[in-house]
Amino acid sequence: MKVSVKVPATVANLGPGFDCFGLALPLYNIVTLEETVLPGSGIEINIINEKNNEGTNLDDVATDKTNIVYKAIELLYNFIGQTPNELKITIKTQIPISRGLGSSASVIVGGLIAANELLGRPADEKVLMSIATEIEGHPDNITPAFKGGITLSSWEEDGSVLYRKLPWNDDWKLMICIPDYELNTEISRSVLPKEVPLKDAVYNLKRSALFVDSLYNKDENLLKAALSDKLHQPYREKLVPGMSDITKNLKHTNGVIGTVLCGAGPAIAIIYNGINVAEIKEIVSNTWNYHNVNTGFLNLPIEKEGASIIN
Ligand code: HSE
Repeated sequence: MKVSVKVPATVANLGPGFDCFGLALPLYNIVTLEETVLPGSGIEINIINEKNNEGTNLDDVATDKTNIVYKAIELLYNFIGQTPNELKITIKTQIPISRGLGSSASVIVGGLIAANELLGRPADEKVLMSIATEIEGHPDNITPAFKGGITLSSWEEDGSVLYRKLPWNDDWKLMICIPDYELNTEISRSVLPKEVPLKDAVYNLKRSALFVDSLYNKDENLLKAALSDKLHQPYREKLVPGMSDITKNLKHTNGVIGTVLCGAGPAIAIIYNGINVAEIKEIVSNTWNYHNVNTGFLNLPIEKEGASIIN
């Protein structure tokens, strides 16, 4: 038996919602699991770059039992008292690795949904989301990868994930600016403080609430006010040279609603109202060029659909 699952890329945090907010993008990884007789360890993992993602370096991605997809699948098998064996895992990637676009969440989610199908669906969505979040360490990429759209997630103390899908105004567009270097999430989390000043926590609390209200009311000015952060982006600026300049340079640019770091970075998402694309791109390119960084651009809508089985 063979199962393939297509899973979208994601952008987590979205400014004030560190480890809580996330959205899906129409860029996909496809995870295929096949039960087949294999030599050696009984596990084979192949990772293939899809068209348009040839620049992604796959050399450092583990293809043994330390691979995160395998680890996620193993937890699901353990959940029903089994161990994976004679399993071929193939991952076709469109999502650049270590750029903040949820590549790891997408393959974890894809691997789990595919394994659950192979096993005859022993786990419900709640269990799958909980295993996926345990492997990933936070739920903000996992939920939109599973469900699509824009989501608010909370990883509860009992290990479950409580989430809500939020509305999105289709007049708001995303420009994803992807720099030509990778940033490992672990490194990007290591620069965050263990404790933050109360006033910074309150700053984000207010903005997270405003963010949700702005989505429900399609209120662009409120969203503009909501899209800033004091919990993670300021600490990560040193790992993403040029980010604060880009934010500053775009602040008063016509059409721009806000600039946020994508997940742990280094990609940046500009939320704008569909106008002035050329000027926005030029400002980002020029600012990053000044910092010796080249960038690629993707103008994308939000992907409303989450992970799906494609055969
Ligand atoms: N919320 C996570 C972080 C996302 O910012 O570290 C990582 O992709």
